[in-house]
Amino acid sequence: MAPMTRCRTGRTGVPTAMNAEYYAQRASAGLIISEATNVSPEALGFAFTPGIYNDEQEGGWRQVTDAVHAAGGKIFCQLWHVGRISHSSMQPNGMLPVAPSAVKPDARCFTENGFKSCATPRALELEEIPGLIEQFFHATKRARQAGFDGVEILAGGGYLIDQFLKDKTNRRTDDYGGSIPNRSRFLIEVVEAAIKAWSPDHIGVRISPVGTVNDIDDSNPEELFSHVAEQLSAYELAYLHVMENTVPGSPREDTYDLLMEKLRKLYKGVYIGNSGYDLKLAINRQQDNLADLIAFGRPFIANPDLVQRFKIGAALNEPDNSTFYDGGGSVGYTDYPFLPNDSVWSTG
Ligand SMILES: Cc1cc2nc3c(=O)[nH]c(=O)nc-3n(C[C@H](O)[C@H](O)[C@H](O)COP(=O)(O)O)c2cc1C
Repeated sequence: MAPMTRCRTGRTGVPTAMNAEYYAQRASAGLIISEATNVSPEALGFAFTPGIYNDEQEGGWRQVTDAVHAAGGKIFCQLWHVGRISHSSMQPNGMLPVAPSAVKPDARCFTENGFKSCATPRALELEEIPGLIEQFFHATKRARQAGFDGVEILAGGGYLIDQFLKDKTNRRTDDYGGSIPNRSRFLIEVVEAAIKAWSPDHIGVRISPVGTVNDIDDSNPEELFSHVAEQLSAYELAYLHVMENTVPGSPREDTYDLLMEKLRKLYKGVYIGNSGYDLKLAINRQQDNLADLIAFGRPFIANPDLVQRFKIGAALNEPDNSTFYDGGGSVGYTDYPFLPNDSVWSTG
């Protein structure tokens, strides 16, 4: 199950019993990747999203991981820092959000009072960067203590790590900007920090090489992400998770698929493909050795028993976009219907 922000965690970022129920309902996924989870108060850009930086949040996640494990599943925590996709109203003391460079995104963040245009961020000072990397170390440690099976570092989606990687957002002239190895340095150092808190086989990385969501882009994604895939191979991580489309749900394009094929070959380890898959495409790409695993996102919102439905060829419930991010209740969250009991063990 692909990571999906659902904005149902309340102001404190402490996961609730309802969040535990939602994830436990989906435990048959095999591996759940949690919604993006803030590594610090400054990491926040979307209201009502969970955190993993204090004891209460760690305790809240413990009930989620216990519920998923009791239902026979596994769950990784997706570690998130939004960088410039935020607004001062969501930052501690009304500060400006931080980013590699002070480039204003043409994008919106989700505040408690609805969507707002993102602010022009403040460019990080060189001396601040080790502190940010340390946030990922602490978050990994807490995720481990909270009973997760691993962490996924969100290096895509137009958020902080992606902002360092791609040249539309990274205009730095120090060791973290300019050349591809320099722009990749922040990601690599975050990975190394996570490895200090847990072994590499508990750490995955998510990238979106051609992703343009949150006003991001790169002039040469092939060269950039070939370098990233090769560098990451050396760490023997749990997996590399690739969002293969520009925008989730957009039609798949052959040119992007060629780039993904290249990355799949360059990355020596488990490759998870994602974005716009149905069962047929998933099986085809796995049979063609273009992915080891496929992550499904929106189908899991509407079908807690997606795996069973795939097995028996049952019809799928349609997800309701209007309740994807809703800030509160169980509607469109824990109330999607399961198949009737008598279809659970049938084979198709
Ligand atoms: C409601 C919603 C929330 C999402 N939140 C996240 C997130 O927190 N982290 C992330 O990496 N991707 C997030 N995504 C992207 C999904 O993980 C996935 O890449 C996307 O939905 C495409 O896969 P699909 O076609 O199987 O739905 C989100 C997508 C949706 C629809």
